[in-house]
Amino acid sequence: MTDDVLVVHGGTPLEGRIRVRGAKNLVSKAMVAALLGDTPSRLFDVPKIRDVEVVRGLLGLHGVKVTDGEEEGELVFDPANVESASTDQINVHAGSSRIPILFCGPLLHRLGHAFIPDLGGCHIGPRPIDFHLQALREFGATVDKRPEGLHLSAPNGLRGTKFSLPYPSVGATEQVLLTAVMAEGVTELRNAAVEPEILDLICVLQKMGAIIKVHTDRVIEIQGVPKLHGYTHRPIPDRIEAASWAAAALATRGHVEVLGAQQADMMTFLNIFRSVGGEYEVTDLRPPRNGRPGQEGGIRFWHPGGELKSVALETDVHPGFMTDWQQPLVVALTQARGLSIVHETVYEQRLGYTEALNSMGANIQVYRDCLGGTPCRFGRRNFKHSAVIAGPSKLHAADLVIPDLRAGFSHLIAALAAEGTSRVYGVDLINRGYEDFEAKLADLGAHAERP
Ligand code: EPZ
Repeated sequence: MTDDVLVVHGGTPLEGRIRVRGAKNLVSKAMVAALLGDTPSRLFDVPKIRDVEVVRGLLGLHGVKVTDGEEEGELVFDPANVESASTDQINVHAGSSRIPILFCGPLLHRLGHAFIPDLGGCHIGPRPIDFHLQALREFGATVDKRPEGLHLSAPNGLRGTKFSLPYPSVGATEQVLLTAVMAEGVTELRNAAVEPEILDLICVLQKMGAIIKVHTDRVIEIQGVPKLHGYTHRPIPDRIEAASWAAAALATRGHVEVLGAQQADMMTFLNIFRSVGGEYEVTDLRPPRNGRPGQEGGIRFWHPGGELKSVALETDVHPGFMTDWQQPLVVALTQARGLSIVHETVYEQRLGYTEALNSMGANIQVYRDCLGGTPCRFGRRNFKHSAVIAGPSKLHAADLVIPDLRAGFSHLIAALAAEGTSRVYGVDLINRGYEDFEAKLADLGAHAERP
């Protein structure tokens, strides 16, 4: 633990330009999809983050040859020899990510059975997998829960089904997609999640030969096909990382250009950013012309000076305000005049990190009520899932311990915005989802070092 600490000298505005690569929450799923093809797949712009390493390790254990391609960030997956891995080998990855659950459908199609270890991922509530298992059973899979993990089999193959999700879960929608594409017959999924990362996964599967229709009202229809081939794909950029740096620019009164950030996927964030008083400019991609150099597209975010304004927001499934955007933004909201309200409706326990911000001088109260918005499914279940942030508060340095990925980034932003020297413990967790974040901090002029 003592090695895993970053010493942050706060109080300097972040200034400069960084680049985001393929979205963590698409890249890891596209990697799993490569298992379904009968020829190699090629994925570009893959960030060097821990989640990618975990999926790469799991694919390798199942006989998929993963190699680096010619381009920086390109991975090539050869699924010619998919094979079973031993439970001991797979269990090495237990607790390190939630992606293994998405191996179920592809492994059932390729091998007729699958073993899934105990899942990991961020500790932001119970994070059940009941929707996933219910869906797999609907397809005809048998699920045997044992202490070491899940054993699944489909001796008679998988068949298309009609299924409605109790909540538009991202992971469960991906589970259905990755299973239905090669199941026999038609699958109709109702109340599906339609996040941009899901639509990009659908693009990947369509490139592989799948037939998927996205209807209105969250209905997705998949016509199963007997065979899929490999894909070549450049993923959508990471809109969570882009918003995290935008929030860091605002909280430190700085100016950060995020190359690769895409307006269309971030519209809801941009509206809130502007309402708080932040400014941004979308810089479109310009190809080189008449001897003039080209320009990569992105979004410039900055604090225009003066005071920020309080806002009321509610996290939601797409096209709502992403739950992963709220923790970084809340740090900036501690600097806004008045009372801001954040109603977290996706995860029941995603506000615990505010205690650390309070220890730095913020004034954030959390409540069990559904504040400021429509009642959600956590209102009557005794979860503290609404926050009131009173500002502006002068933040001072503190020793912080990172609890999970996005909260971790918010701790980092708070340390950068605070006066004085903070010690942020557990920073390696940030490498799960933010590529080279220490190098990016240096590029933005932050004063942070390993002791
Ligand atoms: C994905 O998690 C992301 N992770 C999360 O990002 C993101 O916060 C979340 O979607 C929402 O956008 C990845 O893509 C790897 P869900 P996922 O299933 O798929 C409940 C990050 O930091 N639920 O949409 O696990 C669940 O408890 C991570 O990058 C069930 O009840 O999220 C939650 O309340 C954190 N039963 C809600 O649905 C189930 O079987 C939404 O979860 C499945 C989910």
